[in-house]
Amino acid sequence: MKTVLKYYKPYVPYIIFIVLFLFGQAMCELALPAYMSDIIDEGIVKGDMPYIWRTGAIMIVISVGTLAFAMAGDFLAARTAAKSSRDIRHALFNKVTNFSAAELEEFSTASLITRSTNDVQTVQQTTVMLLRMAIFAPCMGIGSVVRALQTSVSLSWTVGIALGAIVIIMAGSFFLVLPKFKVLQQKLDRMNLIMKERLSGMLVIRAFTTEKHEQKRFDIANWDLTKLNLFVNKAMSFMMPLLMFVMNGVGILIVWAGAHLIEADKLMVGDMLAYLQYAMHVIMSFLFVTMIFIMIPRAAVSAQRIGAVLDVEPTITDPAEPAAFGEAENAKGTQCEEKACGMPRGLVEFKNVSFAYPDAEEKTLEDISFIAEPGKTTAIIGGTGSGKSSLIKLIPRFYDASEGQVLVDGVDIRDITQHDLRQQIGYIPQKGVLFSGTIASNLQYGDSDATETDMMEALETAQATAFIAEKANGLDEEIAQGGTNVSGGQKQRLSIARALVKKPKIYIFDDSFSALDFKTDKALRAALKEKVGDSTLIIVAQRINTIMDAEQILVLEDGKLAGKGTHDELMETCEVYKEIALSQLSEEELERGRK
Ligand SMILES: Nc1ncnc2c1ncn2[C@@H]1O[C@H](COP(=O)(O)OP(=O)(O)OP(=O)(O)O)[C@@H](O)[C@H]1O
Ligand SMILES: [Mg+2]
Repeated sequence: MKTVLKYYKPYVPYIIFIVLFLFGQAMCELALPAYMSDIIDEGIVKGDMPYIWRTGAIMIVISVGTLAFAMAGDFLAARTAAKSSRDIRHALFNKVTNFSAAELEEFSTASLITRSTNDVQTVQQTTVMLLRMAIFAPCMGIGSVVRALQTSVSLSWTVGIALGAIVIIMAGSFFLVLPKFKVLQQKLDRMNLIMKERLSGMLVIRAFTTEKHEQKRFDIANWDLTKLNLFVNKAMSFMMPLLMFVMNGVGILIVWAGAHLIEADKLMVGDMLAYLQYAMHVIMSFLFVTMIFIMIPRAAVSAQRIGAVLDVEPTITDPAEPAAFGEAENAKGTQCEEKACGMPRGLVEFKNVSFAYPDAEEKTLEDISFIAEPGKTTAIIGGTGSGKSSLIKLIPRFYDASEGQVLVDGVDIRDITQHDLRQQIGYIPQKGVLFSGTIASNLQYGDSDATETDMMEALETAQATAFIAEKANGLDEEIAQGGTNVSGGQKQRLSIARALVKKPKIYIFDDSFSALDFKTDKALRAALKEKVGDSTLIIVAQRINTIMDAEQILVLEDGKLAGKGTHDELMETCEVYKEIALSQLSEEELERGRK
């Protein structure tokens, strides 16, 4: 709640003006009934035409004033609410962008979307209401009571009865509806979740012909939400007519009681009419105040949900005093060429690294140590689920190691800013991700200043030129949302090209060659060696062929390092590796590989 309130601070000047305008509006509106009473009692009853004109003119001026104040107030209130909502959405988006993988898993994507749309909307609506009514209604209410008492004390019991009835009605719906609001947002979350999952998995659902089943699941969630919505709306729809009934009833009561007083000469007709208007104002103000009390808790639920996201402290943060690459080397007095001094080289070192996913009981990686040197290829092989992807995700700090250290150029990566670190890394994820736009715009994620030549060069290395040449628009060919209009292998090659455009010191390929045929795989590796051979290459692969020539191969088994060395060394020493190799290659091929 507090977190969200912070976003209204810049708009305090607006809010002050709103208060002034609304105060003006209240004062104007309160003045009107008195003049009306005068027109009737002094003008109409006594037949004084000039008096009617004079007072009428004053009333028109006051009415115009009311209108002006109301419009100015409304305008500023809407503006304040819309602008602060924009700031909140902006903050939410920024926050989520900085989330590490662990925090993203904590809130579901669907919930994050509901929070930054529906919840912000609810807060915005309430803000308009609050700015408009929270000041205006009490002003009007108190002012009307004072004026009504000035007009006639003996009628005050009528307003008393009305207020009593309103309190009872409002309190009833308050207790009935309020607890439902929180549930309502949760159900909305659930609906969005199912909707999102179903939409992205539509093809799979069709292939397994489970549409009926899925429809049922969706219907249940949908009906759940609808039931609750209906309940809330039903409660609300009872409330409004009831309140109207009370208002009309009081109107009749006032006329009835007033008529008696007029008959007894204790009240004038104009005064009774003025009193009627003040009474209505009192009731309306009271209504608004109670409505605000109903709206606030609902908005509070939303504000809390927004605050929960904004308050998360990302587990992966930049150090207070970030180090720079090269410092450690220079401090150690290591020789470095004049030109390269202070420049990152891209040496990656794991020192006794263990890692467990947040909330996981078992360690995914255990006691991993190795050095990946620039100019050399380090390959990682192992069965599915052995922790290959998890291992390389530690290098760009998608997660932090639970124990041990990951170093780049001798600097613990937790001592460098995430930006500096990731600037050195070209990461190609296991599942290629492309964004809607063009091929060029996707490649420019690697480097926004990349020229066409840069991009073509990267595409050539990634063996993607032939496929680009087929496209009518070349680099400007459209990429659909999520890259659905390119094949798996094309997506992989574009992802590789994107990393190449960046020209980093460290390349990380997570099984990026899996969707390529053998020939392309080979050509791509040769091109990589030639073009970026002096960078550090870390390659995860399932195929022995892909990694056989690597200077260093790490064999992972159940998160532990089962072997480390070249292909030949591992064939001698590592059973696990030998098994994988034999299952994939014939003795003959192995022999050939050795030569
Ligand atoms: N986000 C996550 N949260 C919790 N556990 C995870 C998460 N991602 C992976 N794991 C677990 O960690 C283990 C290693 O997964 P990882 O993705 O590193 O395997 P992998 O070697 O890359 O497998 P593959 O060859 O299939 O890609 C698996 O047992 C998996 O269930
Ligand atoms: Mg993997």
